[in-house]
Amino acid sequence: MRIAIIGQGYVGLTIAVGAAGSGHSVVGIDVNVSLVDQLNSGKSHIEGINDSELVGFIAAGSYVASSDPSVLDGCNVIVIAVPTPLDADRNPDLSYVHAASDLISQHVKSPALIVNESTSYPGTLRKEISARITGVEHLYASSPERVDPGNTEWGTKNTPRLIGGLTPEAVAKAVQFYGSFCDNIIEVSSPEVAEAAKIFENTFRQVNIALVNEFAQIADALGISGREVLDAAATKPYGFMSFNPGPGVGGHCIPVDPSYLAHVANEVGVPATFIKRANEVNLAMPAYVVKRVVAGSGGSIKGKKVVVVGVSYKSNVADTRETPAAAVIDLLREKGATVSWHDELVGTWRGETSSSIASSDIAVVVTKHDSVDLDAIKACGYVFDCTGYLAGADGI
Ligand SMILES: NC(=O)c1ccc[n+]([C@@H]2O[C@H](COP(=O)([O-])OP(=O)(O)OC[C@H]3O[C@@H](n4cnc5c(N)ncnc54)[C@H](O)[C@@H]3O)[C@@H](O)[C@H]2O)c1
Repeated sequence: MRIAIIGQGYVGLTIAVGAAGSGHSVVGIDVNVSLVDQLNSGKSHIEGINDSELVGFIAAGSYVASSDPSVLDGCNVIVIAVPTPLDADRNPDLSYVHAASDLISQHVKSPALIVNESTSYPGTLRKEISARITGVEHLYASSPERVDPGNTEWGTKNTPRLIGGLTPEAVAKAVQFYGSFCDNIIEVSSPEVAEAAKIFENTFRQVNIALVNEFAQIADALGISGREVLDAAATKPYGFMSFNPGPGVGGHCIPVDPSYLAHVANEVGVPATFIKRANEVNLAMPAYVVKRVVAGSGGSIKGKKVVVVGVSYKSNVADTRETPAAAVIDLLREKGATVSWHDELVGTWRGETSSSIASSDIAVVVTKHDSVDLDAIKACGYVFDCTGYLAGADGI
């Protein structure tokens, strides 16, 4: 099949490579012209996709990136994989989904299967995508993406994939397409069920992470190790699931998707109180971290040299979207510390570059990559660890 994937970020490129690998002819469309050039020169920008893999598909003619939307016409399947962020008031911003739908409306003159993989609230495929695309009778399905960047155990092939469509024919076509590179397809009765399942999965994580973050504060105030308690609780073989406390939540999913659910909940008159409280707890974690760092450093960090280690939102990825490291750094600076950061995966961020850990008074470990020099961290005067990796260090 000829496949177009609108958006070549974490999700779009992952699906592009999955589809190219199973013999489809894939065009990856992106508005970012320099990204398109980079991809066509065989350079991947995400973890989990090697340059050599990309080069192979380009050479075989099964993958090409493009910023020209006219290539959409004639494709059998068009996948939408564009950002779904929050606006300044933390409400859903569907402008990218709308723009992608408008591209399809303007350029696609022959019927295709349109699949949305972008995470959004139930009703998005029906009301925000299909209702917006006029002139041609397309088929529509929703298959929310579950990719976990950096996860080597679960990828596109072996992660079960949900599919819901506006018609049985759309579901059948979507099952045929995804079944060509995914092992386990699960049909659900409507796109709304698929859309809601995805945001509920992420809301489940957000609320449970907030719960352990609040518990970590309670345990510390009680003078016991929160992590030891959680490890002890996890010995129960049923009815308990482990989550780790940390400096907050980051990335494009956990801090964002639950607010999409809260938005529709509000529209139908149900107050999403868990989501709101979980947001409050997680967003307050950087301030808690800085409070503990100040307390652990004798009550003041004014003039101290602080290095924040790991600024991406999770281990072994370079993604800094919504990372709690940003607030930790800003709050440490507000307390008068001289703050640098160290993250060789990220390299450059917010107009600053990664510094060395050596000769810092204080190290605050926000994210621990496998490659980080633990001895250099331990050599700092005071270490505050948000990750649970540094045995014996102060932390959460
Ligand atoms: N990153 C993840 O781990 C993850 C996991 C599951 C689901 N999702 C969801 O998938 C969607 C995409 O996320 P992502 O992480 O791939 O985002 P991303 O920012 O990495 O990539 C999106 C790409 O879309 C491009 N784009 C924006 N508007 C466009 C348009 N009109 N036409 C063509 N290209 C356009 C951007 O230039 C960018 O390259 C979001 O809804 C997100 O919530 C992400």
